[in-house]
Amino acid sequence: MTISSTLASVICLGVFIVGCGTSQPNAALPAASSSKAITSDADVNAILETSCFQCHSSTGKAPWYAAVAPTYIASNSARNVLNFSDWSSYDAAKRADELKGIAQAVGAGSMPPGDYTALDHSASLTEDQKQLLLKWTAQPAH
Ligand code: HEC
Repeated sequence: MTISSTLASVICLGVFIVGCGTSQPNAALPAASSSKAITSDADVNAILETSCFQCHSSTGKAPWYAAVAPTYIASNSARNVLNFSDWSSYDAAKRADELKGIAQAVGAGSMPPGDYTALDHSASLTEDQKQLLLKWTAQPAH
């Protein structure tokens, strides 16, 4: 009798701990969704952050040695056409529209702009990164 009641409390404790464990990620969810994430694809988010956010987000910034690039100086107008910081407030039609524009610009190689990537090499896209972005833009907006 005592053994089984000890066992029962061990099981209870176990459930309690597991319960704590599962409540932990849930508690972290609001923080994750209020982050800069644009898609659920971590690779695409990372590419957008290193190659686009400098000019197309409210938080991005060029390193000092690339801040003289004309397209970076024009980044206020870049943010007017596409601001990833506002992505969560774009409706489905706006997102679809932006994805089409991104596909065209990235496909044609006009984004990220060459005057900028010549100074900030880390922003230029490898062929693989380009393909990942194009695959992302070809999916229905979500
Ligand atoms: C160095 C700054 C800079 C970076 C980095 C940059 N852009 Fe741009 N982007 C601009 C400017 C400037 C414009 C032109 C805004 C205007 O029309 O006035 C622009 C325009 C655009 C447009 C509108 C269509 C067009 O071609 O004019 C899209 C779409 C776009 N960018 C996507 C991207 C994507 C995707 C990335 C990353 C892969 C990126 N941009 C990186 C500066 C930048």
